[in-house]
Amino acid sequence: MPTLILSGSNVRDLLDMKNAIDAVEQAFRQLAHGAAQMPAKSYLVLEKGDFRAMPAAIAGAVGIKWVNVHPQNPARGLPTVMGSLIYNDPDTGYPLAIMDATGITAYRTGATAAIASKYLARKDARTLGIVGAGRQAYTQLLAHAELFDLEQVLVYDLSTAAIDRFIADFPQFPVKASRLGEVAAADIVCTVTPARQPVLRKEWVRPGTHINAIGADAKGKEELEPAILKSAVVVVDDIEQATGGGEINVPISRGLFTESDIYATLADIVSGKKPGRRSNDEITIFDSTGIAIEDIACARIIYEKAKQSGKYLSIDFIEG
Ligand SMILES: NC(=O)c1ccc[n+]([C@@H]2O[C@H](COP(=O)([O-])OP(=O)(O)OC[C@H]3O[C@@H](n4cnc5c(N)ncnc54)[C@H](O)[C@@H]3O)[C@@H](O)[C@H]2O)c1
Repeated sequence: MPTLILSGSNVRDLLDMKNAIDAVEQAFRQLAHGAAQMPAKSYLVLEKGDFRAMPAAIAGAVGIKWVNVHPQNPARGLPTVMGSLIYNDPDTGYPLAIMDATGITAYRTGATAAIASKYLARKDARTLGIVGAGRQAYTQLLAHAELFDLEQVLVYDLSTAAIDRFIADFPQFPVKASRLGEVAAADIVCTVTPARQPVLRKEWVRPGTHINAIGADAKGKEELEPAILKSAVVVVDDIEQATGGGEINVPISRGLFTESDIYATLADIVSGKKPGRRSNDEITIFDSTGIAIEDIACARIIYEKAKQSGKYLSIDFIEG
């Protein structure tokens, strides 16, 4: 039987942001209704970075992503986050495809944040603030541009080279370099840094803001001053992952936040079990750690399209 081998550029051809958003939202609905399975990701921590194993099954699709986070990689010309994904036949276990999951990770992370914004941001949100202009920031902008009429995109990074690159790469959007305090005052703020100390201060965040806290996805990482969490409606992607390594992990370990302070999971909100934003003044936060159903939902689209086109490399991988 053939196994498709799909490179990063193949994946880029086969996945677009609109499809990613639809597939990921559908996967969250399935999760809410017990039609998806996913243990919390398991971590392997090394000196210079970490690895995560992320298996999941959604209706008709199953697989596992193996992904790293090595923050010093850009200086070596490599992405911080790189992934590989094995996509299997749910009935036999056969590996139907092995694909690059670096782009999948970026697309599904952006897609998930935009879905959170759809339910949690104000309907009239027009300004997007991005803190950290690295790899994941690109898909935060692309995904939000699918769902919102963005009048202004404000961006801040410690590195002016990263800001200049980001602005140059998006001539089609109104992107402007700004001070951190101005970025934090946007209608929707996405924090996408590997920070281990709060970057965003409470005094900068306006009532009615929605924050996607993306960067903290492992123990010890945090981007928001804990006081912001205390005064906000906090939604997580997965309770176990968020308490162990999401934005709330450090505040929990310091006794500044508790699991019972979590308002809902994103699956609860997307499925209508709990309402999203309830007033124009509340500050809402989506604590994203990245969950495996997001990857498998995108892998499914990629596999189905690749199989249909018949033009991608396949090999006899398993000896019968
Ligand atoms: N939640 C998820 O699903 C998910 C998915 C992928 C990556 N991540 C996390 O997102 C973070 C960013 O990943 P990436 O691939 O974009 O990394 P990257 O290295 O490409 O970019 C990070 C950017 O943040 C900037 N930065 C670092 N510290 C900063 C600070 N204090 N203030 C402002 N800017 C700062 C860096 O200069 C860099 O431009 C990582 O922590 C990664 O683990 C989360």
